[in-house]
Parts: sequence; structure tokens; C-alpha cells
Amino acid sequence: MYFYDVMIDKEALYKEVLPQAVSLLEDETDEVACMANLAALLHSAFGFWWTGFYRVVGDELVLGPFQGPVACIHIPYGRGVCGTAWQRGATVVVPDVEQFPGHIACSSESRSEIVVPVWRDGRVCAVLDIDSRELATFDEIDGKYLETILEKVFK
Ligand code: SME
Repeated sequence: MYFYDVMIDKEALYKEVLPQAVSLLEDETDEVACMANLAALLHSAFGFWWTGFYRVVGDELVLGPFQGPVACIHIPYGRGVCGTAWQRGATVVVPDVEQFPGHIACSSESRSEIVVPVWRDGRVCAVLDIDSRELATFDEIDGKYLETILEKVFK
């Protein structure tokens, strides 16, 4: 029952945040400004541990706008959860970071994680990375709504 209630609340919150994100950012063309405000919006709405972006710069990811503790700056292609999501071109949900081979631990507090690619002109231009201090925070509901928000903001 508790699990069911949490699932309903999460989806309800995404349904509130989605139109807020779209109305706040749909006409803004500066990518970094959009990343900064979207990280702030998601972080404050959900109370995540770390919420932010890594941008594709050449053959690596470089830290972009974020909310939360300081984080590692450079992530190579295919490395960690972020580099894996970039390589796959697909959302990666990690219920327990200790079980993900090659996970990059920017914070020892992080227990679960989701990374969603940001697409522009048919290529991944960045990833959205969200960390939680709880195990198994993220699932397909997060993936579905975060992908939708990113599609509408970074079109
Ligand atoms: N854990 C990520 C690194 C980024 S931090 O979580 C902010 C990874 O494995 O790619």
C-alpha cells in the first residue's frame, strides 16, 4: 500500500512539474540557462540528492548546471552511468549504484541514480543525471516523464 501511494504521488508531482517546466523554458534557446533552471525546478520539487547535467564536449562529458554537492567534472564516453547512457542513447535506471559496474561515485551518499540523454539534431548533446540517497528511487515513471520534459525543453 505504501509503495502504491508513493508511486501515485510521484506521478502526480511529475504532472504538476511538466507544464511548469514547459511554460518556463519552451521559448528559451540558451541551453545552459534551460539546464540551470530545469535542474533547480526538479531538485526543489522532488528533493533529490543531486540533480544536474553533463554536456557532451568532444569525446567526453563535462559538468554543466546542477544542484547539490560538488561533482566530478570529466566523464569519458562509455564510463559510469552517465557515459553509459550517452553510449547507449537511452535512459539508464540504477536501483543500487553498488551493483552497477563502473559507477562513478561523486558522493558516497548516493545510492540510486537515473541518467536520461538530452537529444539535439539527432545526437546526444548532454545527459540529465539525478541521484538519490535512497535505494531504488527511480523507475520507468521517472524515465517517461523526464524524457518528455527534456524533449519539450530541448527541441
Ligand atoms: N554517478 C555518475 C557520475 C556523476 S555523479 O553521480 C553526479 C556516473 O556514474 O556516471
